[in-house]
Amino acid sequence: GGVKAKDALGNDISVSNFLETHNPGDRVLAQGLKGDPTYIVVESKEAIGDYGMNAVCTHLGCVVPWNAAENKFKCPCHGSQYDETGKVVRGPAPLSLALVHVKPEDDKISITS
Ligand code: FES
Repeated sequence: GGVKAKDALGNDISVSNFLETHNPGDRVLAQGLKGDPTYIVVESKEAIGDYGMNAVCTHLGCVVPWNAAENKFKCPCHGSQYDETGKVVRGPAPLSLALVHVKPEDDKISITS
């Protein structure tokens, strides 16, 4: 079963509010499956992306920040980089960021593996 994406305060995220307060192309951290930090993609003004990315670096587990200016995720710990879809483009990370399925459900964001 899935979970509802939560904000930093532990509240369910409203899709409409989320889309109003972020820009197309943004990757926004939320709490996903098992509370894992998970990026939700702002696909357009009207839609969230079908896939989110687990924000935990596949090297040694640092949370990887989104760098909008460079359109990639850059790990501060040992320099791994991932493209905007979470695909690893620079090591030492051995694997791409894990993807999750994301969909709107009753104006909330539902996440499944
Ligand atoms: Fe991210 Fe090492 S934990 S590069």
